[in-house]
Amino acid sequence: MQRLTMEEKVALLAGTDIWHTPPIARLGIGAIKTSDGPSGVRGKFAVDGPKAAFVPGPVCQAATWSLSQIYSLGRLLCKEAKTKSAHVLLAPTICCARNPLGGRNFECFGEDPFLSGRLAVEYVKGVQESGEVAATPKHFVANEQEHLRFNINAVISDKALREIYLRPFEVLICSASPPDCIMTSYNCVNGEHLDMNSRIIRDILRGEWGFKGLVMSDWGGTNSTLESLLAGLDLEMPGPPERRGRKLLDAIEQSNYDPKLMAALDESVVRVLRLARKHGLLGLSPEDAEKTRDSQEISCTTPEDIKLMRDIAASGIVLLKNSQQTLPLKARSLAGKQVAFIGPNALDGTPGGGGSATMNPQYLSRPMESFRAVAMTHGIDVTVKHTLGAYARKWLPLFSESQWAVNGHNPSQNLVRVDYYLSNDLSGPTKETQFRGSSNVDMSDSSPLDFQVDPVPAYSFRITSTVTPSKSGRHTFSLSSVGGSRLYVDGKLIIDNGSWTEPGETFYAFGSAEATGTTKMETHQKYNITVEGWATRPDGIYTADANHVFAAHPSVRIGYLEELPTPEAMIDEAVALADESDATIVVIGLSDEWESEGYDRKDMALPGAQNQLVEALAKRAKRPHSIVYVNQSGSPVEVPWIHDVSTFVQAWYGGQEAGNALADVLLGYTNPSGRLPCTWPQKYSDLPFEADPESWPGVGETVLYKEETQVGYRWFNHNPDVTPQWWFGFGLSYTSFSTTLIRVRESEDSWTVHVDVDNTGAYPGQQIVQVYVWPNQTPQDKALVGIEKTSLIQPGNRECVTLNIRTRDAARWVSGRWVIDGGIYSLGVGTGVGEASDSVISLDVKGHSWGPEEY
Ligand code: BGC
Repeated sequence: MQRLTMEEKVALLAGTDIWHTPPIARLGIGAIKTSDGPSGVRGKFAVDGPKAAFVPGPVCQAATWSLSQIYSLGRLLCKEAKTKSAHVLLAPTICCARNPLGGRNFECFGEDPFLSGRLAVEYVKGVQESGEVAATPKHFVANEQEHLRFNINAVISDKALREIYLRPFEVLICSASPPDCIMTSYNCVNGEHLDMNSRIIRDILRGEWGFKGLVMSDWGGTNSTLESLLAGLDLEMPGPPERRGRKLLDAIEQSNYDPKLMAALDESVVRVLRLARKHGLLGLSPEDAEKTRDSQEISCTTPEDIKLMRDIAASGIVLLKNSQQTLPLKARSLAGKQVAFIGPNALDGTPGGGGSATMNPQYLSRPMESFRAVAMTHGIDVTVKHTLGAYARKWLPLFSESQWAVNGHNPSQNLVRVDYYLSNDLSGPTKETQFRGSSNVDMSDSSPLDFQVDPVPAYSFRITSTVTPSKSGRHTFSLSSVGGSRLYVDGKLIIDNGSWTEPGETFYAFGSAEATGTTKMETHQKYNITVEGWATRPDGIYTADANHVFAAHPSVRIGYLEELPTPEAMIDEAVALADESDATIVVIGLSDEWESEGYDRKDMALPGAQNQLVEALAKRAKRPHSIVYVNQSGSPVEVPWIHDVSTFVQAWYGGQEAGNALADVLLGYTNPSGRLPCTWPQKYSDLPFEADPESWPGVGETVLYKEETQVGYRWFNHNPDVTPQWWFGFGLSYTSFSTTLIRVRESEDSWTVHVDVDNTGAYPGQQIVQVYVWPNQTPQDKALVGIEKTSLIQPGNRECVTLNIRTRDAARWVSGRWVIDGGIYSLGVGTGVGEASDSVISLDVKGHSWGPEEY
């Protein structure tokens, strides 16, 4: 500290580029490297970087309700972070699934603050245990929507803030293994942006909860120079600094080296240095290159790691309906038979949601192919056959390796060639050429290094590739871009997106709406495709209001779709395929195009003609009970046909092991043990949002959290005129359990709860013991206070489970304190809130209260 100059201190308090803090070579201080999070550890490139383990999505992790699996996952993520030379993992996301339309719900642990907090504790323990990687829970706090996320002002009562939104962070920060870092959210809470919200950072986080670690802003979420520093925000991210750097130096000078400011500055510098020291960065060592844990390169993705990802993806799968016992499929009787795979997610499936949680996976396991392969490893040879059934994309598909190639290059690595020009009209010499493996060409982190400077120069690029159509027809191309773009097929202009005005949702919602154009093409003929992209204005500003770090570079997403049959013809083909098959798996749902950072869903319906597909199969197929419906999504979708189908499975997004895990469950090699981490409404209009834009997504830049603490199951418990499709905590198994509360031992600040779980069915299985507490006077105030997952219990066997529950976890926030009113309470165990099987014991509870700093 003493050897640092003022300039160096200030430099340490902001990033130097998108992922690093600045090194100070003179003093041997190395750069701290951060990396997203939370579906794996991606490394520095958003799309095309070195491959990484794509772990099951966070909401799927939460659906396991397994503390031990989440801890093991944390350890795996620590190993992954090291392969990307990252010291800081930007995860977990522990905001609340307030509304099923929230774009980032897939990234969170669901709707319940206790479940989120408990899982986060295990996750962070696993990530940080070896001392090599820091975890960064985010986004602190109340980032429940993407609409206007940079500035939206969430107006929340103190009670709702404490009991719901701050709560998971409190459980984590006050645990025995607090995180080393925390990331503030973009939004405002009660009028103040989080980066400078001294009430929340200084008073609550640091004051009441005693957080000693580093507080960083979300990317581009530092909104002030002095206020953020005084509030206790240590690090502006990313760099180069927008609000600090020169501006902070000037402000310090102007304040005449105000002692209060100097003290805040020093405190923040100490916290950055402490983190650097913990990661061996005091004493300069050059950063290692990024690697993948690919089997060819290094053998870090061990069979144990692959098994863990597969087990988590399978344990998170929730069996929601199985009224004809169609599942598990009788694997042996499928030998030599045909299984149909129908639906938009049946072939490729969706491994995860979009945005900064995107990964470049080491490999993918896909629903249909994995089903065949998993059956085969058990000696069962099945024939699989696919038809789409319904088209459900938001944007046209990206280029596929089977049809696209850059002439003369290995197609699997090089789907497109990009030539860059240091002009905004493609004039002048080629500055650099890159080959890329995706037609989602995001330049913000991977344009030539000469362009990764501040300010970004006005530049342009030409993308070339060739396509060989698999059939003749009128095929469609699409472009959406930050900056201008045009697409040519064999030299003919097909799309001119040069002066777009309608914004879309690509590139974190900074890109244009998708522009499309069609052209007639012949099968097996090769066509040259050229796309040009450029800075819209010579001063290097690419969109109308693009001052944001994500809009500083031109980027383009190119789509291609071959002519499809009509929706009716696709459905007819699906019904015919189901009829000629011995079993049918319909994989429907959402994808990373529908659920992503940057935007929310517009409604809760399945997109495209998916409902019509299911309805047709349910009504017209000859053997409707041989059909299994599987949904992939990070949030509930409306299932208006649920009474017409006998089987329904919620598979979330399972990462690179999604296909294998699904096959394990469908074939019965894994008995599903997932439970919903969010209540599943029957319809969106049952929630308090549809008729009230002030509550969602807000009017102007204000959103009112009017439902107060009544989020998820708490809403349904307080509004008995609406019932959910399935309650929070619900999930079936191939076996049955009897879960009985045996006794509760009360001490001053805890309840020791003994529960017997008997496997009363025919399959080995795991049960989740869920403990809820409610005052007898107000049973609608039921809240989860304890969770434990049993081991695999054999049929006829019993497992005795003991849980230690802190009474403070049942307290409510009243006038600045945590309070339990004296009186008679019920403590019950059950499968899901609202399920009839609660085994209940009455408790005579003495009133008690705790100060805000007591946890
Ligand atoms: C996201 C963060 C992420 C950061 C860096 C932001 O837009 O909100 O979750 O960690 O970008 O990619």
